[in-house]
Amino acid sequence: MNRLKIAIQKKGRLSEQSLRLLRECGIRISNGGKLKAEATNFPVDVLYLRDDDIPQYVADGVADVGILGENVVLEKGKKVRVAEKLGFARCRLSLAVKREEKYVGLSWLNGKKIASTYPNILRRFLEEQGIAAGIEEISGSVEIAPGIGLADAVCDIVSTGSTLMMNGLREVETILRSEAVLIANPSLEGERQKILGQLRFRIRAVQNAGQYKYILLNAPDDSLETICALLPGMKSPTILPLAEKGWNSVHSVVKEDTFWEVIDNLRQAGAQGILVCPIEKMFL
Ligand code: PRP
Ligand code: ZN
Repeated sequence: MNRLKIAIQKKGRLSEQSLRLLRECGIRISNGGKLKAEATNFPVDVLYLRDDDIPQYVADGVADVGILGENVVLEKGKKVRVAEKLGFARCRLSLAVKREEKYVGLSWLNGKKIASTYPNILRRFLEEQGIAAGIEEISGSVEIAPGIGLADAVCDIVSTGSTLMMNGLREVETILRSEAVLIANPSLEGERQKILGQLRFRIRAVQNAGQYKYILLNAPDDSLETICALLPGMKSPTILPLAEKGWNSVHSVVKEDTFWEVIDNLRQAGAQGILVCPIEKMFL
């Protein structure tokens, strides 16, 4: 079958952003709350699954690729390939204890019990650190474990920190940092491998676009050179003469993370009427 099956999270922290990414890649999905949906304008089918099950399904070939947190990929340890880091749903896997606990460092955990849905990563971490703590593996609502006397600490995903806060817990150690990734079955081939290539090309165009802004400004002749040097652009800036003599319109792109600094320098160099616009797609 010449369609790529993409598994995404049915409900949770990643679901909305995963769908948004596919939408930004120009993939139109009609979904009436079903478990499977077909894109109408690109050869992909979307499967809505529990994120915890996605590595297994992708390893088995039930799905060809999947979008989920790297944390789940590492925990499950299935044979899948990380094809692309996606940069959203950033979070960390952390240890937390009751707010009032006198936590003095990792050694505090010796002889204690830690509740987690990440037993494998946690076990490895404790071994590396030489800590002898028990692991209480549970499948959800980890944050209530200390409150009901099930464990002394928890090891869970922290994003905004509000779940910990609401449950009277305090983050004390970070075990790993994670973000959403696109995983693929390692033996994908033929037509489906090709579709994956097209999908990755589109994903990168969306990601690049998010990192850059389009910038237009007016520059007087005498500072044109200085201003162009501040705006290297994709190849070099575009320069167009203005109707008013001695002035030019300069167009270029500028990186989001150096943006304010560049604007300040441009103004000092004599740029006027600076306009900055978002870029929707960018092919480098
Ligand atoms: C994690 C974690 C908390 C929440 C923390 O769950 O178990 O419930 O996110 O987020 P916060 O710091 O913003 O409050 P996750 O989204 O990974 O989902 P799942 O374990 O239910 O699949
Ligand atoms: Zn989950």
